[in-house]
Amino acid sequence: MVSDRIVKMLNDQIVLEGDSSQVYLAMAVWAQANGWRGTASFMYAQAEEERSHMFKLIHFLVELGATPVVPAIEAPKASYKDIEEVFAVALAHEKKVTASIHKIISESRQTNDYPVITFLQWFVNEQVEEESNVNAVLDLISKAGKVSLFLADKEIGALRSAK
Ligand code: FEO
Repeated sequence: MVSDRIVKMLNDQIVLEGDSSQVYLAMAVWAQANGWRGTASFMYAQAEEERSHMFKLIHFLVELGATPVVPAIEAPKASYKDIEEVFAVALAHEKKVTASIHKIISESRQTNDYPVITFLQWFVNEQVEEESNVNAVLDLISKAGKVSLFLADKEIGALRSAK
């Protein structure tokens, strides 16, 4: 049985993944309402993916014989200045998620919770990919300038739906 401290940390991670899903869903809705269709499709897909991360953690805790929490839904930030702010906020959010995953792994090493370390390896790789995706988008936006921002938005949509 995994230590109580690690169960608590995994439950906090469930809350964080659920929150990620809500944050990205709100970004998708804002983007759609403001005519940024590519960004909307990127963020709708991202919202689904974060929800699946939450489910992975829930199923894992059940397999361990622990009780997962089902997080309360908090209202996420609903409006943004532009799509650059959307992705800057997304990158900061992903960095927070990455740091949290790494912290659970560090703690699990100290308590010899090996199944948790193995399970979270998938999340470590996933976070590398997600941060890389968002960095790629921010790079595109910074190169685009105002005139071609519309084209950049289309590229953003293609980036996410190609995977
Ligand atoms: Fe599942 Fe991107 O955190």
